[in-house]
Amino acid sequence: MNRRKFVLATAGTATAVGLAAGFLRSHRPQPRVPAAKAEAPLPPDPAFPNPLRLPGAQGMYGVIDGSGALTLVAKGVEHPILPGKPARMLAFEAEHQGTRFHNPVLRVRAGSPMRVSFWNALEEMSIIHWHGLKVDSNNDGHPHYAVPGGATYDYHFTVENRAATYWYHPHPHHLTGKQVYHGLAGFFIVEDDEELALQKSLDLKLAETDIPLVIQDRRFDEAGELVFAPTAEERFHGHYGGEVLVNLTQRPHLHVATRIYRFRILNGSNARLYRLAFRQGGRLLDYTVIGTDGGLLDRPLAVGNSFLAPGERVDVLLDLRAAGRGDAVTLVSLPFDAMRQETAARGAPAHGELTHPAGHGAAVAPQAPASDGAELELLRIRVRSKTPYDRTTPQVLSRLEAVPDSTFSPRLVVLDQANGKWRINGTTYKGDETPIVVKRGTTEIWDLRNVPPTMPHPMHIHGFQFRVLSREGSPEQQRRLALDKSGLAATDLGWKDTVLVWPGETVRIVTDFSHPFLGDQVYLVHCHNLEHEDGGMMLNLKVAA
Ligand code: C2O
Ligand code: CU
Ligand code: CU
Repeated sequence: MNRRKFVLATAGTATAVGLAAGFLRSHRPQPRVPAAKAEAPLPPDPAFPNPLRLPGAQGMYGVIDGSGALTLVAKGVEHPILPGKPARMLAFEAEHQGTRFHNPVLRVRAGSPMRVSFWNALEEMSIIHWHGLKVDSNNDGHPHYAVPGGATYDYHFTVENRAATYWYHPHPHHLTGKQVYHGLAGFFIVEDDEELALQKSLDLKLAETDIPLVIQDRRFDEAGELVFAPTAEERFHGHYGGEVLVNLTQRPHLHVATRIYRFRILNGSNARLYRLAFRQGGRLLDYTVIGTDGGLLDRPLAVGNSFLAPGERVDVLLDLRAAGRGDAVTLVSLPFDAMRQETAARGAPAHGELTHPAGHGAAVAPQAPASDGAELELLRIRVRSKTPYDRTTPQVLSRLEAVPDSTFSPRLVVLDQANGKWRINGTTYKGDETPIVVKRGTTEIWDLRNVPPTMPHPMHIHGFQFRVLSREGSPEQQRRLALDKSGLAATDLGWKDTVLVWPGETVRIVTDFSHPFLGDQVYLVHCHNLEHEDGGMMLNLKVAA
């Protein structure tokens, strides 16, 4: 049975029925308009006063092109996250061809050799993990390899992955949440021929019309300094902030022209989920999912909203060809049920070991975090100019490989809690144990089962991309996004390295554990809620030669 066809038909129906307005609009012939000229500035929008920080040729998120030798220094820097309030944060600093970068966007061709020297200039252990990349354990940034402050670690690997938006962040055990929260994270963009063909056909330019967005919730004190002092509660649930930043910009706006834009969206938050949608006035616009963690889908799929959990990426197109000058579209997170069942469970004496600090909630002072699942406005996109643009989205994006075949009877991976600890298969992280062993070259099916009372867990595997086969027992808000009986949403249809597993859900994935590395390799399986990870919801995964 040709599932792909069925998926497409279903997606087409959803588009035509639910989103007729946007769909029809974008297919109306466009009047030719003169080239964008410097038009009068838009009146300020007090709700979104700050220009979105975009990758440039230097500084924060500056783009470093190509491979070759590079040094990344994890260090404290001063950066005005809130306007006019320089804050202490951490960043990866690079000097490249005489220019200084912080958290550079690394942009490389598939197949490139990489030589990165990491210098830990922090006062604690650290190491860089290349999230999503297929590397051997020496280059993975597994916490085994964390180095103390003052020490260095050298990476040397070839980019084996297909084109996609990957990222890099620290991974020292117990400290990942803290270090990422304070700013250590960057994009790693891989390009190949299919990717370059897409850029050409849509006339996409990185940082202009192809825009990486990292979404992170943070808490600040009155001086504009980052606050991170998780209580026992927060170490259990995850650390949430009341201020949601996009590219380290508070209440950001982006001025655009009437054309198609690409957003590569990374959820770089410690714990918060987002349900991403674009809203114009009171109306939701459809947008097009073109890629997931591991790169382009085979074809574009129209959606109204999609969930993005910590660690995940989604690659989308927003069609503003029919917009008018002054139109405003807001990237929002729609309200959803955060399914924080563990809160109820925690109240019961049976789950008693978790300590409740006095004044839970009240103790958090500087900014009460917006509740998990609350509606959020993330980025205001304002149409500043009309521009001639005659491109359309190609109907074939990539030759997405078929889902790998497996005869392996599913391995059950149970996510649950006991005594205030999140567990995987009844256990927590021990550096010297490898509870999951797979044979190099085998293709395994895993059932990730999240057993209530629980909360959502975005599960991540190092060193491999996998495919999602099905979702069972999904909550209604997820089931509504399903394209067919498998329960999969558009954002489940490509290569993934992180997948959200809702309470009560069983997500079936398939991973081909083939790689070119000789000898045993030790990777990780963990929850990408960084407090869960630091709390031990993480297991070694050995790929035996
Ligand atoms: Cu992005 Cu082991 O994590
Ligand atoms: Cu990773
Ligand atoms: Cu978790």
